[in-house]
Amino acid sequence: MTVEAYMARLAGMVERELDGVLPAGWDVPARLREAMMYSLKAGGKRVRPVLVLAAAEAVRGDGSASEAAMPAACAVELVHTYSLIHDDLPAMDNDDFRRGKPTNHRVFGEAMAILAGDALLTHAFHLIAEAALSGRLSADAALAITADLARLAGASGMVGGQAADILGEQGVTTLEELRYIHLHKTADLIVFSLTAGGRAAGASAGQIEALAEFGRRLGLAFQIRDDMLDVIGDERRLGKKTGSDERSRKVTWPYLAGLEASRDEVERLTREAKEMLREAGLRKPDLLIGIADYLMRRDR
Ligand code: IPE
Ligand code: IPE
Ligand code: MG
Ligand code: MG
Ligand code: MG
Repeated sequence: MTVEAYMARLAGMVERELDGVLPAGWDVPARLREAMMYSLKAGGKRVRPVLVLAAAEAVRGDGSASEAAMPAACAVELVHTYSLIHDDLPAMDNDDFRRGKPTNHRVFGEAMAILAGDALLTHAFHLIAEAALSGRLSADAALAITADLARLAGASGMVGGQAADILGEQGVTTLEELRYIHLHKTADLIVFSLTAGGRAAGASAGQIEALAEFGRRLGLAFQIRDDMLDVIGDERRLGKKTGSDERSRKVTWPYLAGLEASRDEVERLTREAKEMLREAGLRKPDLLIGIADYLMRRDR
């Protein structure tokens, strides 16, 4: 099976699970439910949940932990989707297109977009707790995953990175500063994805640390590639407008180092990431390694 086919199979599993992620019986204002599902089901690549499931499979050597890993897979996609809704708001990047559709606030208004984001974030934690209550995931794993998600998505993680991105607008002058922003705004959720998959599959502490190191490099490479695609990408493939960073005068990797050096850095980080993973004693590291190679060349 090609890596694309493998990723598509896992993404399909996630897609089906996301359909029913918000219990039909919950008494939720229809407009809020609609706004949440609009962005969630708008057709993202599902890279993060795919990494959760792939990490679980890398640890086990087969798909036997997919059922246990699925709640964390959905949780990270909920958190990621909320971060995109808020990232697109006029007060942040002020973007009109996302995942091939008008952004959430363009359709539902800013207030509902903010609330849809809030509700997606909150629901992510419910999914993990519920997985432990129903016995789908061990209580120990659920606790560790909850603590990781709060840390990696919160003030010292993704939100911290987004804050640094906003505070640093135009003021960032070194790749070191930019590295900090990228590591937090983007790599932290990718680190979460890999370690959560590992935890659901019963990985050892050493394996978790190796998955986290792999994720840091992969996540940094992912954001540098995102910055490159904002310059050289195809809007229809990406499902979002290019040139957004220049419009909002963002300092990016291509801006500071140039496109060629950005491409080299993505390759270097991917190579390093793969080397780390080979030494982690995983039963089946090849699928994650294939995903790393695929992401390095992605055009969407
Ligand atoms: C976009 O993430 C935002 C970044 C952190 C770079 P993705 O490129 O994974 O977006 P979707 O989920 O496919 O829409
Ligand atoms: C977004 O980075 C990171 C998060 C949403 C946490 P960008 O602002 O570069 O993402 P895009 O380009 O809008 O997808
Ligand atoms: Mg942004
Ligand atoms: Mg943006
Ligand atoms: Mg971008």
